[in-house]
Amino acid sequence: MTKYHIQGGKPLHGSITISGAKNAAVAIIPAALLVDGVCRIENIPQISDVTLILQILQELGADIRTVNRTTVDIDCSHIRNRQVPYELARKIRASYYLVGALLGRFGWAEVPLPGGCDLGGRPIDQHVKGFVSMGADVDVRSGLICAKVPGGRLAGGQVYLDMVSVGATMNIMLAAVLADGMTIIENAAKEPHIVDLANFLNSMGANIMGAGTDVIKIRGVKQLRGGTYSIIPDQIEAGTYMAAVAAAGGDVLIQNVIPKHLDCITAKLVEMGVEVEELDDAVRVRRSGPISRTNVKTMPYPGFPTDMQPQIAAVLCLANGTSVLTEGVWDSRYRYVDEFRRMGAHIQVDGKVAVIEGVPALTGAPVHACDLRAGAAMVIAGLAAQGVTEVDGIYHIERGYENLVGKLAGVGADIRTITVPDEDAKSQAG
Ligand code: EPU
Repeated sequence: MTKYHIQGGKPLHGSITISGAKNAAVAIIPAALLVDGVCRIENIPQISDVTLILQILQELGADIRTVNRTTVDIDCSHIRNRQVPYELARKIRASYYLVGALLGRFGWAEVPLPGGCDLGGRPIDQHVKGFVSMGADVDVRSGLICAKVPGGRLAGGQVYLDMVSVGATMNIMLAAVLADGMTIIENAAKEPHIVDLANFLNSMGANIMGAGTDVIKIRGVKQLRGGTYSIIPDQIEAGTYMAAVAAAGGDVLIQNVIPKHLDCITAKLVEMGVEVEELDDAVRVRRSGPISRTNVKTMPYPGFPTDMQPQIAAVLCLANGTSVLTEGVWDSRYRYVDEFRRMGAHIQVDGKVAVIEGVPALTGAPVHACDLRAGAAMVIAGLAAQGVTEVDGIYHIERGYENLVGKLAGVGADIRTITVPDEDAKSQAG
């Protein structure tokens, strides 16, 4: 069993370079299924979710060639197998994008229901509604999403999403690019990765308008051709390191970011007394004084991202005064609170609201990463805490953060990965 061992209490100094965006990469890679020819995709993050989605494409018969550490060539011209392997699909949320991509390309898809972080119910009814509006028959049974177009090719449809859904917006876009006629998505999500997927598809010959607004129009084209595309930097990875500096103190230049994508995070950190200086493709984050309390509510973009909720909670645990955190996207995203309490945090949760009473210091403790962003939050708390924190369940963190330990150690954090025999791990779990 591997864990992160963190000796807390060291301010962070230096620079960190941000990798490509996970939630863009896991949609853009399946989008290559729609393309006739070679897609060269650059700025791919080295994380386990990306490895999995590439493995799934390979199982389907895609020709995948690694060009360098962050670039792959994907050629899906000769896909021979359309059965998505259960063992791979169930491990990753983004496997649902295979439904939109396979349905758009072949008029037929059978994909196991996806996995991913446990954040309460994660229905896919809006994805299904979109596919049905384009003429597909969709059946969710025996753990499979089965979708089929009677005529073999989807027809443009119109769908109003009942709630803003990143996954449904992207999946419907994927299905629509090769459909006959125009598809309109209303109440679409506006996250940076929605725009990135649209830019990728447009650069391969698609005709998508309005990505980044709440109405997206997709005029179907006959074929997509190969090309080269570079994935945007990861907004949440950048925000996580910004929160780490806010909690531990210090002065760090966070490079290879789009500062505009960070505005929603920057605004809250500034309210909390953190200095954030925006440069062209970097932000400099400094904190030496006290952390001020504030209230945060998570919302779809451009609101404060739910994927930053646990990390900002780690910072608020150390603020002067009481803060109110409201989760506006997921039903259940406070499973990490008990772990924070083990470190001395004062948090009360009632439904979607957490009331955090700041304490002067957290103390190191053994804690468990119950999901990806909660795991990142445990690391942040450990960096700021007095004493040693050991974080287990780190496979969750490695799903979405490239070289987290190396990047933090590079700015002076005392963090390393340790391996403990499984027997020790069992007796500790008691
Ligand atoms: N929803 C429905 N029906 C649907 C789809 C969504 O009711 O058909 C609800 C969800 O239950 C949730 C809300 O709508 O309450 C928003 O869900 P959304 O579809 O936007 O989430 P997602 O596409 O499953 C992606 C990210 C998540 C991120 C959310 C919100 C990927 C692979 N996952 O999930 O990322 O929290 O958008 O921004 O892109 C993470 O990276 O840690 C992560 C969990």
